[in-house]
Amino acid sequence: MTASIVILISGRGSNMEAIVNAVSAGKIAGKVTAVIANKPDAAGLNFAKKAGIDSICVDHNQYENRESFEAALIKRIDAYQPTVVALAGFMRILTPHFINHYEGRLLNIHPSLLPAFPGLNTHRRVLEAGVKWHGCTVHFITETLDCGPIIIQAAVPVLPDDDEHLLSQRVLTMEHQIYPQAISWFVNEQLSIEKDCVRIKNDKEAQFHSYQFEQP
Ligand code: GRF
Repeated sequence: MTASIVILISGRGSNMEAIVNAVSAGKIAGKVTAVIANKPDAAGLNFAKKAGIDSICVDHNQYENRESFEAALIKRIDAYQPTVVALAGFMRILTPHFINHYEGRLLNIHPSLLPAFPGLNTHRRVLEAGVKWHGCTVHFITETLDCGPIIIQAAVPVLPDDDEHLLSQRVLTMEHQIYPQAISWFVNEQLSIEKDCVRIKNDKEAQFHSYQFEQP
């Protein structure tokens, strides 16, 4: 059976685009069956619609509380019998109920080299901290925010003249490379978790893949 990939977004959706494009290019053995946003004006919904993907809004503002919003969201997601649910810039805190419902098949991309800089405004905080390397992480979601087992990371240098925008663009380029890779491994059943660490099977090169950041 073809792997069903459901992607959750809140805004621009450039990571979602990268995943959709990787599927079209045959780099992921699956199908993006739905793109679901929690905001009606999420720009990414237009791209998904044009690509012929079911594009759905479950507007969190229309629900009384987190529980009822998530119940509606789960209903829409489960209609697609997802092999994997990929959060791509989905800006809602999820309850343990939601996370447990998708245990082991819920992925997220975070714009930092976790466990450093969990939470929001990572690029600004990286610049303020003066660290020399930054990056992004794809990880399984667990109940602790930005804390689940790490699948793949990519690092980029922080350069002397960087501002938040320049740095975020450099990181984003890498996000678009590593998220499709992580989903490809997942749908090929190459990932296992041992003592909170992710092992990648049948990819001897996995530790040595290099992802090129844009030269300034
Ligand atoms: C990305 O930087 C992602 O890492 C973070 O939110 C941003 C979403 O960007 N979680 P996009 O909507 O995928 O363009």
